Amino acid sequence: MSSNSESGKLQTLTEKNVFALFVGLLLVLSVGGLVEIVPLFYLKSTMEHNQFPELLWQRKEGQTLADHKPGDGMRPYTALELAGRDVYQREGCYLCHSQMIRPFRDEKERYGHYSLASESIYDHPFQWGSKRTGPDMARLGGKYSDDWHRKHLRAPRSVVPESVMPNYPWLKDSPVDGETMQAHMTGLQTIGVPYTDADIAAAADEVKGKNEEDAMVAYLQVLGTMTKLDEDKAYRE
Ligand code: HEC
Repeated sequence: MSSNSESGKLQTLTEKNVFALFVGLLLVLSVGGLVEIVPLFYLKSTMEHNQFPELLWQRKEGQTLADHKPGDGMRPYTALELAGRDVYQREGCYLCHSQMIRPFRDEKERYGHYSLASESIYDHPFQWGSKRTGPDMARLGGKYSDDWHRKHLRAPRSVVPESVMPNYPWLKDSPVDGETMQAHMTGLQTIGVPYTDADIAAAADEVKGKNEEDAMVAYLQVLGTMTKLDEDKAYRE
Protein backbone atom coordinates (compact mmCIF):
# COMPACT_ATOMS: atom_id res chain seq x y z
CA MET A 1 0.00 0.00 0.00
CA SER A 2 1.05 3.64 -0.29
CA SER A 3 0.87 4.42 3.45
CA ASN A 4 4.66 4.57 3.78
CA SER A 5 5.24 6.71 0.63
CA GLU A 6 5.38 10.55 0.69
CA SER A 7 1.96 11.00 -0.94
CA GLY A 8 0.50 8.62 1.61
CA LYS A 9 1.77 10.81 4.44
CA LEU A 10 0.35 13.95 2.83
CA GLN A 11 -2.99 12.26 2.39
CA THR A 12 -3.08 11.12 6.02
CA LEU A 13 -2.14 14.62 7.16
CA THR A 14 -4.92 16.33 5.17
CA GLU A 15 -7.44 13.75 6.29
CA LYS A 16 -6.59 14.27 9.96
CA ASN A 17 -5.81 17.98 10.05
CA VAL A 18 -8.48 20.32 8.71
CA PHE A 19 -6.04 23.28 8.52
CA ALA A 20 -3.68 21.31 6.32
CA LEU A 21 -6.69 20.51 4.12
CA PHE A 22 -7.54 24.24 3.85
CA VAL A 23 -3.95 25.15 2.92
CA GLY A 24 -3.96 22.44 0.26
CA LEU A 25 -7.31 23.62 -1.09
CA LEU A 26 -6.13 27.24 -1.18
CA LEU A 27 -3.05 26.23 -3.14
CA VAL A 28 -4.94 24.17 -5.70
CA LEU A 29 -7.76 26.71 -6.16
CA SER A 30 -5.31 29.64 -6.56
CA VAL A 31 -3.40 27.87 -9.32
CA GLY A 32 -6.66 26.90 -11.05
CA GLY A 33 -7.97 30.46 -10.72
CA LEU A 34 -4.79 32.10 -12.01
CA VAL A 35 -4.61 29.83 -15.04
CA GLU A 36 -8.21 30.75 -15.96
CA ILE A 37 -8.18 34.46 -15.13
CA VAL A 38 -4.71 35.81 -16.06
CA PRO A 39 -4.94 35.11 -19.83
CA LEU A 40 -8.11 37.24 -20.02
CA PHE A 41 -5.95 40.28 -19.25
CA TYR A 42 -3.54 39.84 -22.16
CA LEU A 43 -5.48 37.89 -24.81
CA LYS A 44 -6.82 40.31 -27.43
CA SER A 45 -9.82 38.11 -28.16
CA THR A 46 -11.24 38.78 -24.67
CA MET A 47 -12.71 42.08 -25.88
CA GLU A 48 -14.47 41.72 -29.22
CA HIS A 49 -13.82 45.32 -30.32
CA ASN A 50 -10.13 44.49 -30.84
CA GLN A 51 -11.30 42.54 -33.88
CA PHE A 52 -14.50 44.52 -34.59
CA PRO A 53 -13.68 48.18 -33.86
CA GLU A 54 -17.15 49.26 -35.03
CA LEU A 55 -18.54 47.93 -31.74
CA LEU A 56 -17.25 51.11 -30.07
CA TRP A 57 -18.31 54.59 -31.06
CA GLN A 58 -15.48 56.27 -32.96
CA ARG A 59 -16.05 59.73 -31.62
CA LYS A 60 -14.66 62.63 -33.63
CA GLU A 61 -12.99 65.72 -32.18
CA GLY A 62 -15.60 68.18 -30.89
CA GLN A 63 -18.56 65.75 -30.95
CA THR A 64 -20.77 65.67 -27.85
CA LEU A 65 -22.51 62.59 -26.43
CA ALA A 66 -25.72 63.94 -28.00
CA ASP A 67 -24.19 63.47 -31.49
CA HIS A 68 -24.25 59.68 -30.99
CA LYS A 69 -27.03 57.83 -32.83
CA PRO A 70 -28.36 54.42 -31.72
CA GLY A 71 -26.24 51.76 -33.40
CA ASP A 72 -23.11 53.95 -33.69
CA GLY A 73 -21.31 51.80 -31.12
CA MET A 74 -20.75 51.76 -27.35
CA ARG A 75 -20.34 55.19 -25.78
CA PRO A 76 -20.12 56.40 -22.18
CA TYR A 77 -23.54 57.03 -20.54
CA THR A 78 -24.92 60.57 -20.59
CA ALA A 79 -25.21 62.25 -17.19
CA LEU A 80 -28.94 61.45 -17.01
CA GLU A 81 -28.48 57.78 -17.98
CA LEU A 82 -25.64 57.47 -15.48
CA ALA A 83 -27.88 58.92 -12.76
CA GLY A 84 -30.47 56.26 -13.63
CA ARG A 85 -27.82 53.60 -13.44
CA ASP A 86 -26.83 54.81 -9.96
CA VAL A 87 -30.45 54.48 -8.84
CA TYR A 88 -30.59 51.01 -10.44
CA GLN A 89 -27.69 49.96 -8.20
CA ARG A 90 -28.96 51.76 -5.09
CA GLU A 91 -32.40 50.12 -5.33
CA GLY A 92 -30.93 46.69 -5.96
CA CYS A 93 -32.63 46.10 -9.33
CA TYR A 94 -29.71 43.77 -10.15
CA LEU A 95 -30.91 41.38 -7.43
CA CYS A 96 -33.85 40.42 -9.67
CA HIS A 97 -32.64 41.43 -13.15
CA SER A 98 -29.58 40.32 -15.11
CA GLN A 99 -27.97 42.21 -17.99
CA MET A 100 -26.22 39.34 -19.70
CA ILE A 101 -27.73 37.22 -22.44
CA ARG A 102 -25.99 33.87 -22.59
CA PRO A 103 -25.22 32.25 -25.97
CA PHE A 104 -28.01 29.68 -25.79
CA ARG A 105 -30.80 29.37 -28.30
CA ASP A 106 -33.64 29.88 -25.80
CA GLU A 107 -32.02 33.07 -24.49
CA LYS A 108 -31.33 34.45 -27.96
CA GLU A 109 -34.92 33.83 -29.04
CA ARG A 110 -36.30 35.57 -26.00
CA TYR A 111 -33.88 38.46 -25.54
CA GLY A 112 -31.88 38.88 -28.76
CA HIS A 113 -28.18 38.60 -29.65
CA TYR A 114 -26.02 37.22 -26.83
CA SER A 115 -24.07 39.79 -24.82
CA LEU A 116 -20.47 40.68 -25.70
CA ALA A 117 -17.73 41.70 -23.27
CA SER A 118 -17.19 44.93 -25.23
CA GLU A 119 -20.78 45.94 -24.46
CA SER A 120 -19.82 46.33 -20.78
CA ILE A 121 -16.62 48.23 -21.46
CA TYR A 122 -17.79 51.48 -19.81
CA ASP A 123 -19.74 49.76 -16.99
CA HIS A 124 -18.10 50.23 -13.60
CA PRO A 125 -19.27 48.03 -12.00
CA PHE A 126 -20.95 45.83 -14.63
CA GLN A 127 -24.56 44.78 -13.95
CA TRP A 128 -24.47 41.23 -15.35
CA GLY A 129 -26.21 39.88 -12.26
CA SER A 130 -26.70 36.26 -11.34
CA LYS A 131 -30.41 36.09 -10.56
CA ARG A 132 -33.46 36.43 -12.76
CA THR A 133 -36.65 36.89 -10.79
CA GLY A 134 -37.59 39.30 -13.60
CA PRO A 135 -36.43 39.25 -17.23
CA ASP A 136 -32.95 40.07 -18.53
CA MET A 137 -32.50 43.76 -19.38
CA ALA A 138 -29.47 43.72 -21.69
CA ARG A 139 -31.59 44.63 -24.75
CA LEU A 140 -34.53 46.33 -23.07
CA GLY A 141 -34.21 49.72 -24.80
CA GLY A 142 -37.12 50.56 -27.10
CA LYS A 143 -39.23 47.54 -26.05
CA TYR A 144 -41.76 49.77 -24.19
CA SER A 145 -42.70 53.46 -24.26
CA ASP A 146 -41.39 55.89 -21.64
CA ASP A 147 -44.93 56.12 -20.29
CA TRP A 148 -45.16 52.38 -19.83
CA HIS A 149 -41.90 52.46 -17.81
CA ARG A 150 -43.19 55.26 -15.58
CA LYS A 151 -46.42 53.41 -14.84
CA HIS A 152 -44.53 50.17 -14.32
CA LEU A 153 -41.95 51.71 -11.97
CA ARG A 154 -44.61 53.42 -9.83
CA ALA A 155 -46.88 50.36 -9.68
CA PRO A 156 -45.81 47.27 -11.67
CA ARG A 157 -49.16 45.55 -11.10
CA SER A 158 -51.01 48.37 -12.87
CA VAL A 159 -49.55 47.11 -16.17
CA VAL A 160 -48.56 43.49 -15.38
CA PRO A 161 -51.18 42.17 -12.91
CA GLU A 162 -49.21 39.05 -11.94
CA SER A 163 -45.93 40.95 -11.29
CA VAL A 164 -44.01 40.44 -8.03
CA MET A 165 -41.82 43.50 -8.63
CA PRO A 166 -41.85 46.12 -5.83
CA ASN A 167 -43.31 49.63 -6.38
CA TYR A 168 -40.82 52.48 -6.71
CA PRO A 169 -43.14 55.51 -6.33
CA TRP A 170 -40.54 57.79 -4.69
CA LEU A 171 -38.25 58.04 -7.70
CA LYS A 172 -40.40 60.73 -9.34
CA ASP A 173 -40.08 62.90 -6.22
CA SER A 174 -36.29 62.65 -5.85
CA PRO A 175 -34.25 65.23 -7.79
CA VAL A 176 -31.02 64.35 -9.58
CA ASP A 177 -28.06 66.38 -8.34
CA GLY A 178 -25.84 67.88 -11.06
CA GLU A 179 -22.70 68.21 -8.94
CA THR A 180 -22.89 64.59 -7.82
CA MET A 181 -23.10 63.49 -11.44
CA GLN A 182 -20.09 65.64 -12.38
CA ALA A 183 -18.07 64.12 -9.54
CA HIS A 184 -19.12 60.63 -10.63
CA MET A 185 -18.17 61.29 -14.27
CA THR A 186 -14.79 62.71 -13.20
CA GLY A 187 -14.18 59.52 -11.22
CA LEU A 188 -15.07 57.36 -14.22
CA GLN A 189 -12.83 59.49 -16.46
CA THR A 190 -9.94 58.80 -14.08
CA ILE A 191 -10.35 55.05 -14.50
CA GLY A 192 -10.47 55.27 -18.30
CA VAL A 193 -14.05 56.00 -19.41
CA PRO A 194 -13.56 58.45 -22.33
CA TYR A 195 -15.58 61.40 -20.99
CA THR A 196 -14.27 64.74 -22.28
CA ASP A 197 -14.02 67.73 -19.96
CA ALA A 198 -16.81 69.29 -22.04
CA ASP A 199 -19.10 66.30 -21.30
CA ILE A 200 -18.52 66.79 -17.59
CA ALA A 201 -18.99 70.56 -17.76
CA ALA A 202 -22.35 70.08 -19.57
CA ALA A 203 -23.58 67.41 -17.12
CA ALA A 204 -25.08 69.73 -14.48
CA ASP A 205 -27.29 71.48 -17.05
CA GLU A 206 -28.32 68.17 -18.58
CA VAL A 207 -29.82 66.87 -15.35
CA LYS A 208 -31.23 70.19 -14.12
CA GLY A 209 -34.90 69.81 -13.14
CA LYS A 210 -34.85 66.03 -13.74
CA ASN A 211 -35.91 63.48 -11.17
CA GLU A 212 -34.72 59.93 -10.55
CA GLU A 213 -37.64 58.47 -12.51
CA ASP A 214 -36.62 60.49 -15.62
CA ALA A 215 -33.07 59.21 -15.10
CA MET A 216 -34.17 55.59 -14.71
CA VAL A 217 -36.29 55.73 -17.87
CA ALA A 218 -33.36 57.24 -19.83
CA TYR A 219 -31.11 54.44 -18.58
CA LEU A 220 -33.60 51.63 -19.29
CA GLN A 221 -34.28 52.98 -22.80
CA VAL A 222 -30.60 53.02 -23.81
CA LEU A 223 -29.86 49.44 -22.73
CA GLY A 224 -28.78 47.38 -25.73
CA THR A 225 -29.34 50.18 -28.27
CA MET A 226 -25.88 51.73 -28.48
CA THR A 227 -24.31 49.18 -30.79
CA LYS A 228 -25.86 47.11 -33.58
CA LEU A 229 -24.86 43.46 -33.65
CA ASP A 230 -24.80 41.54 -36.89
CA GLU A 231 -26.27 38.01 -36.70
CA ASP A 232 -23.96 36.92 -39.53
CA LYS A 233 -20.74 37.87 -37.76
CA ALA A 234 -19.03 35.47 -35.35
CA TYR A 235 -17.97 37.87 -32.60
CA ARG A 236 -16.77 35.01 -30.41
CA GLU A 237 -15.46 31.60 -31.35
C1 HEC B 1 -38.21 41.36 -6.33
C2 HEC B 1 -37.64 41.27 -7.67
C3 HEC B 1 -37.58 42.55 -8.51
C4 HEC B 1 -36.92 43.71 -8.25
C5 HEC B 1 -36.12 44.09 -7.01
C6 HEC B 1 -37.06 44.53 -9.43
N1 HEC B 1 -37.81 43.88 -10.38
FE1 HEC B 1 -38.23 44.55 -12.24
N2 HEC B 1 -39.31 42.86 -12.61
C7 HEC B 1 -39.48 41.82 -11.71
C8 HEC B 1 -40.40 40.85 -12.31
C9 HEC B 1 -40.87 39.57 -11.65
C10 HEC B 1 -40.74 41.34 -13.60
C11 HEC B 1 -41.72 40.69 -14.61
C12 HEC B 1 -43.12 41.20 -14.37
C13 HEC B 1 -43.26 42.66 -14.71
O1 HEC B 1 -43.08 43.05 -15.89
O2 HEC B 1 -43.52 43.46 -13.79
C14 HEC B 1 -40.04 42.59 -13.74
C15 HEC B 1 -40.08 43.36 -14.90
C16 HEC B 1 -39.35 44.53 -15.08
C17 HEC B 1 -39.32 45.27 -16.32
C18 HEC B 1 -39.98 44.86 -17.63
C19 HEC B 1 -38.98 44.00 -18.38
C20 HEC B 1 -39.49 43.34 -19.64
O3 HEC B 1 -38.65 43.02 -20.50
O4 HEC B 1 -40.69 43.13 -19.77
C21 HEC B 1 -38.56 46.37 -16.09
C22 HEC B 1 -38.22 47.47 -17.08
C23 HEC B 1 -38.12 46.32 -14.71
N3 HEC B 1 -38.62 45.18 -14.14
C24 HEC B 1 -37.33 47.28 -14.12
C25 HEC B 1 -36.89 47.20 -12.79
C26 HEC B 1 -36.14 48.25 -12.16
C27 HEC B 1 -35.64 49.51 -12.83
C28 HEC B 1 -35.93 47.84 -10.87
C29 HEC B 1 -35.23 48.60 -9.76
C30 HEC B 1 -35.70 49.94 -9.51
C31 HEC B 1 -36.54 46.54 -10.72
N4 HEC B 1 -37.14 46.19 -11.90
C32 HEC B 1 -36.52 45.81 -9.57
C33 HEC B 1 -38.90 41.69 -10.48
C34 HEC B 1 -38.15 42.66 -9.85
